Amino acid sequence: MRLLVCGGAGFIGSTFARLRLLEHGDEVTVLDKLTYAGREENFHDFASAPGFRFLRGAIEDPEALAGAIAAAEPEAIVNFAAETHVDRSIAEPNAFVKTHALGTYVLLEAAREHGLRYLQVSTDEVYGSIEAGTFTEDSPLRPSPPYSATKTGADLLVQSYFHTYGLPATICRGSNNFGPHQYPEKLIPLMILNALHGDPLPVYGDGKQVRNWIHASDFARAIGCVLERGAAGEVYNAGGPDELANIDVVRRILELTDADESLIEHVTDRPGHDRRYSLSSSKVRALGWEPRVRFAEGLERTVEWYRENAWWWEPIRSGEYRAYYQRQYGRALS
Ligand code: NAD
Ligand code: DAU
Repeated sequence: MRLLVCGGAGFIGSTFARLRLLEHGDEVTVLDKLTYAGREENFHDFASAPGFRFLRGAIEDPEALAGAIAAAEPEAIVNFAAETHVDRSIAEPNAFVKTHALGTYVLLEAAREHGLRYLQVSTDEVYGSIEAGTFTEDSPLRPSPPYSATKTGADLLVQSYFHTYGLPATICRGSNNFGPHQYPEKLIPLMILNALHGDPLPVYGDGKQVRNWIHASDFARAIGCVLERGAAGEVYNAGGPDELANIDVVRRILELTDADESLIEHVTDRPGHDRRYSLSSSKVRALGWEPRVRFAEGLERTVEWYRENAWWWEPIRSGEYRAYYQRQYGRALS
């Protein structure tokens, strides 16, 4: 396939681009604005692979998008482009509204004009929090923070283009991803890097919030499966095989980095913090997908990757991220 992968310089988008290029032989054009989270370093191992092209541009910019479509002549658009950190959406929602609402609209219009298939990458956060049981694709949408609310708005717009214009669109909603190349504002890489540096590990509230972990390679495979075999107009959930409380994730990271429990610091909870996420994935499993990486093994490999790839995270940890960390946590990194 010839794919236009929007937001492909980020954590999951670059994992997907690598998979489709190297394992499926697809032609992949990445269109990415390169926000703080988008990095050409994420292409380091496939930038020169045949069929790969990178273009810098924003999805909400119709001219940049038209140029990318002319260059790529894609059969489908896969949209990963998003602002993705819940804490940043609470502090400053502006970019979330622009990218998720306006950006998704501009992409959908282009898909309609050029007769392209469209896949929207979405999140379990659109369903809100669940105390017991699991969300299915028919669960009500009850997003909590601005990140999730604007992602939900984007999903509804995608569905409206299927219902109104017959656009062949699908949505794939993932649970919490982890793995290499994840920006260290997120729980797992933040805790790994702090533990390796002897910085305190800031656990929000009691740390008993539960997340449903999926390895990014498994989510990328689920998205590929929906792209190839999903029915137009349908939503597919892709949840990981393991659920863990945050505090248990943090304790395991301390063991894997040989760091001391005394580094754990319970800090003020995130406002409106969702208590638990859990996704049922039977619909995408019926298309032939299943997760391959269990959390325990994937976490061990992820810690190893961060240990061995300081070249990737050092420029982040010595750059803008330090000021973000100071604003968010009220203390400096070592
Ligand atoms: P990320 O923050 O690592 O990457 C986002 C990418 O989008 C970056 O490369 C950034 O430069 C790009 N981008 C942002 N705004 C843009 C714009 N206006 N135009 C073009 N590019 C833009 O995010 P991620 O964790 O890889 O998430 C990718 C997608 O998967 C998002 O849609 C997110 O909502 C969804 N998702 C993430 C998770 C998770 O746990 N990380 C789980 C489920 C779903
Ligand atoms: O569920 C899917 C979502 O997972 C994605 O859609 C989002 O893009 C992604 O950011 C992620 O959202 P979360 O808010 O669940 O992820 P985060 O890594 O920010 O936090 C995971 C949990 O850890 C959450 O309960 C908050 C907690 N946490 C997080 C940080 C950064 C802490 O206790 N301390 C921290 O410093």
